[in-house]
Amino acid sequence: MCGIVGYIGNREIKSLLLEGLKELEYRGYDSAGIAIMQKDDIRYFKAVGKLKNLAEKTKDFKTEGFGVGIGHTRWATHGKPTELNAHPHLGEFSYVVHNGIIENYQELKKELIESGVNFVSQTDTEVIVHLFEKNLKNSKDPMEAFEKTIETLKGAYAILLITKSAPDTIFFARKGSPLIIGTNDKGEIFFASSDAPLISNATEVIYLEDGEYGYANKEGIKLFANKEEKEPVKVPLTTDKQYAQKGGFRFFMEKEIYEQSEVVGDTILGRASNGKIYFEELKEEIIEGINEIKICACGTSYHAGLTSAYLFERMAKIRCSVEIASEFRYKEPLLTKDTLFVVISQSGETADTLEALRMAKKAGLKTLAICNVDNSSIVRLADYTILTRAGIEKGVASTKAFATQVMVLWMLVLYFSQIRKTLSDETIANELKAIRRIPKVVKVKDKLHEKIKRLSKRYLHGHGFFYIGRDIFFPLALEGALKLKEISYLHAEGYPAGEMKHGPIALADSELFTIALMPKTVHYDKIKSNVEELSARDATILAISPVEFELADDFIKTEYFDHPMIEFFEMMVITQLLAMEIAIRLGNDVDMPRNLAKSVTVE
Ligand code: F6R
Repeated sequence: MCGIVGYIGNREIKSLLLEGLKELEYRGYDSAGIAIMQKDDIRYFKAVGKLKNLAEKTKDFKTEGFGVGIGHTRWATHGKPTELNAHPHLGEFSYVVHNGIIENYQELKKELIESGVNFVSQTDTEVIVHLFEKNLKNSKDPMEAFEKTIETLKGAYAILLITKSAPDTIFFARKGSPLIIGTNDKGEIFFASSDAPLISNATEVIYLEDGEYGYANKEGIKLFANKEEKEPVKVPLTTDKQYAQKGGFRFFMEKEIYEQSEVVGDTILGRASNGKIYFEELKEEIIEGINEIKICACGTSYHAGLTSAYLFERMAKIRCSVEIASEFRYKEPLLTKDTLFVVISQSGETADTLEALRMAKKAGLKTLAICNVDNSSIVRLADYTILTRAGIEKGVASTKAFATQVMVLWMLVLYFSQIRKTLSDETIANELKAIRRIPKVVKVKDKLHEKIKRLSKRYLHGHGFFYIGRDIFFPLALEGALKLKEISYLHAEGYPAGEMKHGPIALADSELFTIALMPKTVHYDKIKSNVEELSARDATILAISPVEFELADDFIKTEYFDHPMIEFFEMMVITQLLAMEIAIRLGNDVDMPRNLAKSVTVE
């Protein structure tokens, strides 16, 4: 997602901002920009594409002496990746960069246009700068105008704003999107949306909390929350870049599991409000004349697709089939134009998925890509795209990408249900309530992680793992088993719980480890009796459930049990942590498991 940097001091500001943005490149972006103010002169530059384009545009520009600057890498959410839509956004005498989404931007924009403001971009961000300038007309103090501005904004944001009306100052605010302020003993002040750009520049940092805002200038930093001034809490900053990139976690995979709360929140932003699902990137006609959905993907993305198939049929009442792309390619599939062809891919470059998409396009089908990488081959080819907003995933074993794929698919099911009127408003409202709870549900709790760490030592051997589940918990069982085998190199299978007695139960003995996904909201009694059958044959059972299960050898109690998808997401995190802790105990390189590549661009 987007990245923010800012600076107050005497260094050459352009280079410093560009270097800072470079550190944030790993988050993914499609355009970038900077604005620099010295005295009351502001210069700004924007470029589409990679940072080298921005560097090229600014090559003849340099600063000398004191100034302030802000910079941004943008990953398009509202409006296409164009120069006009790139940040900083400008008013008449002020510039703003912003991460997150302003949910009430449409109504604010309408009011501003009615009062004579001219908008040049399609973004939600532009309202911030115009609103600030409008507020400033009715107030002598820029801080008062800034405070009033952020009070009006709904949604999530990290904001930096500079204005000629306060030439040595950066105004800042944080709600829902990270923002950090760095300082050092030379009196310089830095801003960034994650700590990588601050390392080797700042020695201490202030991690802003939600609801905090203020301003910084030569004199220092003034911090506020709820209109009350606060003392900023400074903590020392690490000097180890690799450590910082991993955010202090042992592996990128661990960091990415912990990031799920934030990225799932990003995935929902602007898409679920006022009792409805919105996808700016779709048109309702996408579903016109469609009688079937066919999903095609590989690996983890395939599991996300399988999960959604239950929901498409149950809620949107539309036939849905899911195929492994490498199989689909050669089966001479029958494709009819009343089918919406959906591909799911984290990388957007998976050769088999890409080829399946080509075949669907050739057959004249409407196509939709659910993808994490903008401008990837799959995105460029598909008729429609929904970006999953997971940010760059470095761990080879996919975690946060899966979480965001399932989230997008769940919202897509509701979007189609809305259009096809297959669910009541009340049911959709309940689903939306559940969706909004997911960022909290997937937040890793220390106690849970500790417990899984302890349990993991009992699962380092044995002749195999069976992950079992029913309904949407069957694809989750497949995904849990895939995670384990990828990084621990132990044999694991995902199986529909009801199918065990049709063969695999022959393997059951005390060395067969069964990871039983036992949600309360989905066929609890059925899966319970499946697990009892395994226990009767002496299989070792690790049960994951909100309901105590006395036959379990080990038990992880889940917290939530009022919605199947909430149980799904909670159990997803548990299976990810379990695989990771087992692999760490076995001494494996969790981020780069043997024989695997992050992007599979060959058949
Ligand atoms: C598993 C994993 C792979 C990918 C698969 C498809 O952790 O990462 O199974 O899911 O290679 O990749 P994408 O989603 O990039 O098409």
